[in-house]
Amino acid sequence: MALFEINDLSVQFDTNDGTVSAVNGVSFDVNEGDTLAIVGESGSGKSQTAFATIGLLARNGHSTGSVKWDGKEILNLPEGQLNKIRSSEIAMIFQDPMTSLNPYLKVSAQMEEVLTLHRGMSRREARAECVRMLDAVRIPDAAARITMYPHEFSGGMRQRIMIAMSLLCRPRLIIADEPTTALDVTVQAQIMDLLRDIRYEFNTAMILITHDLGIVAGSCERTMVMYGGRIMERGTTAEIFAAPTHPYTLGLLDAVPRLDRREDVLPTIPGEPPDMLRAVTGCPFEPRCPLAFERCISVVPPLERLGETRVRACHRNPEEVVR
Ligand SMILES: Nc1ncnc2c1ncn2[C@@H]1O[C@H](COP(=O)(O)OP(=O)(O)OP(=O)(O)O)[C@@H](O)[C@H]1O
Ligand SMILES: [Mg+2]
Repeated sequence: MALFEINDLSVQFDTNDGTVSAVNGVSFDVNEGDTLAIVGESGSGKSQTAFATIGLLARNGHSTGSVKWDGKEILNLPEGQLNKIRSSEIAMIFQDPMTSLNPYLKVSAQMEEVLTLHRGMSRREARAECVRMLDAVRIPDAAARITMYPHEFSGGMRQRIMIAMSLLCRPRLIIADEPTTALDVTVQAQIMDLLRDIRYEFNTAMILITHDLGIVAGSCERTMVMYGGRIMERGTTAEIFAAPTHPYTLGLLDAVPRLDRREDVLPTIPGEPPDMLRAVTGCPFEPRCPLAFERCISVVPPLERLGETRVRACHRNPEEVVR
């Protein structure tokens, strides 16, 4: 049994312009200690997939399907029960740490509360544990700096504090949504290294959401590529990078900056992401796909298994999908 098992998950939003189908029939598993990257361009449904699984959709959103945590169905559980899971077993890290940290409270107060409230520790025990976690995320001089306010730390240090906070309850799964996007490249690399070390130390599973394929290779065992709220392809990160079998994955990989190719302009995939208000009759990528043919317009390609570790949704034969 998988730790986290998502089956046929769909998310819709009610808006004044109509219904937005943000996620359509997405299924995947995460096992104990696993690492899964969810990649795709902006608007492909990465965040809403994650939010739906742990009940964090905006008020106009609703989800259907099944989400099992440790074998128990948790999709659309009452808020109180979801809160319990979110505060103890599944931690979420967001792009901008300032939206999750309270600027008016010292870091010590915010961190210690997690432990006094949820793990019943005394203030003194909580302080010791918080300093230990700040040490673990390599905040220098943590014992003294824990009494500072969030704005007294740099952006990278604030993200470290968020990671430390998310670890306090010893979660079994961390969902990190663009955790390094707001940071500069050097700090990005440090945070990714840190997340990797922490996973080893605490054996935490991780779902990493990013539009940056460049950070996926060194940090996640498996990769799931999304477009138009659907899974285009999923497999081990090694096989996705070495031998992509979906035209969209090819396009994404071509858009990753490479050291061995000097170009003034980075390649991007031509065309616009789909309008999520319109019902799709075929493959959502069809209007932008260089390999599209008639069938792609009228038939949604089913997600099919290609070998032991890989699935993909495309009407072309895998050997036709080449650069
Ligand atoms: N509250 C909402 N109401 C209506 N539509 C929404 C709402 N929240 C998200 N959407 C739409 O759902 C779709 C998927 O959004 P999602 O946030 O999952 O994208 P993403 O892949 O995480 O992109 P990004 O890389 O920009 O974060 C988008 O078209 C978005 O506009
Ligand atoms: Mg997002």
